[in-house]
Amino acid sequence: MERSTRPRVFVTRQLPGDALARLAGQVSLRVWEEPLPPPREVLLTQAQEVEGLITLLTDRVDEALLASAPGLRAVSNVAVGYDNIDVAACTSRRIPVGNTPGVLTETTADFAFALLMGLARRVAEADAYVRAGHWKTWEPGLLLGTDVYGATLGLVGLGAIGTAVARRARGFGMRLLYVSRQPRPALEAELGLTRVDKATLLAESDFVSLHVPLNAGTRHWLGRAEFAAMKRGALLVNTARGPVVDPAALAEALASGHLGGAALDVTDPEPLPLDSPLLKLPNVLLAPHIASASHATRGRMASMAVDNLLAALAGHKPPHCVNPELFP
Ligand code: GLV
Repeated sequence: MERSTRPRVFVTRQLPGDALARLAGQVSLRVWEEPLPPPREVLLTQAQEVEGLITLLTDRVDEALLASAPGLRAVSNVAVGYDNIDVAACTSRRIPVGNTPGVLTETTADFAFALLMGLARRVAEADAYVRAGHWKTWEPGLLLGTDVYGATLGLVGLGAIGTAVARRARGFGMRLLYVSRQPRPALEAELGLTRVDKATLLAESDFVSLHVPLNAGTRHWLGRAEFAAMKRGALLVNTARGPVVDPAALAEALASGHLGGAALDVTDPEPLPLDSPLLKLPNVLLAPHIASASHATRGRMASMAVDNLLAALAGHKPPHCVNPELFP
């Protein structure tokens, strides 16, 4: 058998678009073809045999995997978030890690706003009502919702996606508050945003929308105390990461009626178990982690992940690298 000198790459799922065909022209490629993620043992075994990994947010790249994969030289995540990857462990082994920021910003903001509006105006409930044959006449009190126009939106995090949501919200005449480690005076002036502390955001927002990465500082950012501090009847939108919200506190706040509703593209855990109380509540709008899922955007994310991987395998800094300190 001819011995290939091409780098070996394992991709943990089929990806939309033609990026993998492009990759196949340059590396010795193995793709996990199943719809569900590769089991941990498969990921570990594959990682031991390759120089490059393209992973999804469902694949854990941790110290144990890295320790058993001495040939690994590049990890490329098809996501902007990378909480599934132990970046410090990769950095200490001089393995660059790539992600896919930018290309999904507007698509994700579109979906966050779709969830916000769908929750406020009870779109999924209305659809189910019509399909179930309950619609008998026009009723003055039928499926009353919450006005988006004029309401206060509290943005938790004002990175690219939070900012893109703010632009949309501005078009809807919303009052805009945000919390963020960094003040953003130029954006405040441009979009009419006000930076506040956490307590003020919780107390004054009719809608709270989460746009922070998951890390030690943001895990359970919303817990029991925070839900209690929110306005009665406020609505929560989460397109960030499930564990930014304490799931037990969320269930309690919804059950007590203090929280008016939640629109969740991300949950803890994912997927939600079928006996989750969230599935029984009409004021919870759910989606299976699809905020960036447009044809164009998912194709671009795949392409960017391939570019990141190829650069790292060639010894260069990936165009989007989360540990750039490897390339001084
Ligand atoms: C999706 O959640 C992403 O981080 O890209």
